[in-house]
Amino acid sequence: MKFQAIKGVRDILPPESALWNRVEQAARDVFGTFGFAEIRLPIIEPTDLFARAVGGDTDIVSKEMYTFPDRIEDYPEEAQKFRRWQKREEKLPPPESELVIEVAPPDLKYPFISLRPEATASVVRAYIQHGMQTLPGNVKLYYMGPMFRRERPQKGRYRQFYQIGAEVLGSSDAPGIDAEVIEMLLAFFARIQLKGAVLHLNSIGCKQCRPAYVEMLRGELQKVREQLGADSQRRIETNPLRVLDSKLDSEQAIIEKLPRIAEHLCAECKTHYDEVKRHLALRGITYQENWRLVRGLDYYMRTTFEITAPGLGSQNAVCGGGRYDGLVELLGGPATTKGIGFAIGTDRVVLSLQEAGAGEAAGGLDVYLAWFGAAAQTAAVGLARRLRDAGFVVELPAVDMKFGKSLGLADRLKARHAVILGEDELAAGVVAVKRLADGTQQKLAEPELFSYLRAARNG
Ligand code: HAM
Repeated sequence: MKFQAIKGVRDILPPESALWNRVEQAARDVFGTFGFAEIRLPIIEPTDLFARAVGGDTDIVSKEMYTFPDRIEDYPEEAQKFRRWQKREEKLPPPESELVIEVAPPDLKYPFISLRPEATASVVRAYIQHGMQTLPGNVKLYYMGPMFRRERPQKGRYRQFYQIGAEVLGSSDAPGIDAEVIEMLLAFFARIQLKGAVLHLNSIGCKQCRPAYVEMLRGELQKVREQLGADSQRRIETNPLRVLDSKLDSEQAIIEKLPRIAEHLCAECKTHYDEVKRHLALRGITYQENWRLVRGLDYYMRTTFEITAPGLGSQNAVCGGGRYDGLVELLGGPATTKGIGFAIGTDRVVLSLQEAGAGEAAGGLDVYLAWFGAAAQTAAVGLARRLRDAGFVVELPAVDMKFGKSLGLADRLKARHAVILGEDELAAGVVAVKRLADGTQQKLAEPELFSYLRAARNG
């Protein structure tokens, strides 16, 4: 029996994992300079949390979550209901047909758990749970880790994928916050040298102005219903805004003629959007306005944005985000708390860097320590320890090997130097150092070996 990772889920192997580490470290460094601190969140949450926050009608919640029932014993009230029901069932005569066997009492609110499809809902849950509204200033948090969505796998789209996200929660919805969050994001992309990133920007209004726009959109969509695909037809009822981000070729000309939300924003939303743009301009940030950028999660209001990057085909969004001022209240927290944030798709960022020819961060072996004979082994173990203590990357063969075989392995491992320790060297109190790039070799005592390796490492 040979096992394989399940569909849409993959291993990230060295040396690619070094590139992942570099990307994640850059996020920690850059976000840290903006005053963000890390929050580590659970991977499982109550299903209801996502249904509420992200929206029960969204694709993410209605089709893509990995959901399973929790152990009923952990919920005493529900467990009691279940036991009462079981007792009653036992007293009933056996069912005439197996088809009428019920699996649970009808009033049982069965506790379901989901693997997180995103983390904004969790951050807000944690913010409320820990009363973070009492903390001074804005609460600025970042997170990174795996998310799970049962999507159709393709290049840049996986069922377990990774996000690096950040959220700002606080009592202010000042447009300068939106601009600074975007500035931080672009500083991160600059730090990892991702070329060709484009910022797409929109405002999708608020509770005051969006419903009227959505109704108008629905009306217009009804008129062209027959020309739309099945998905968009369904969305006329469930969520007309989502028709706007349809990628179907046959729908593009129709969508272009639909009314645009920018022309239907209320005065407050319009001012907010204009101010976000002014604050971006004063940071020298350029962007493309995209009136069709509505995003696939229900919690957004006002500012929405995405970043696209080259080399990714159709899955070219490397980051999505926006403002979600009503979400804290919706999840039972203070109505005064506003929020904005984003999540970067790490898989796609790494893919885009690879497509652009970014090498993996040089890990690299400084020293392959070839020893020959039992006495040399003892000396080699000590030398390896001292070299590693000094920060050098050392490979120490575990068994005695023939000279040719050992040096051959050093070559194949792409070590920068082979340090050779045999009986002769041991007797003379030196080691032979061979630079594998050009084969030059010299004998050095230990202090000189360290200076030589240090000089080699520095350039
Ligand atoms: P999202 O747009 O659903 O937003 O995901 C953000 C990013 O995650 C996407 O732009 C994409 O790069 C990556 N991503 C999403 N699904 C997949 C997948 N199946 N495979 C690979 N990468 C994927 C959110 O998740 C929001 N929580 C972002 C946010 C934070 N908004 C406010 N705060």
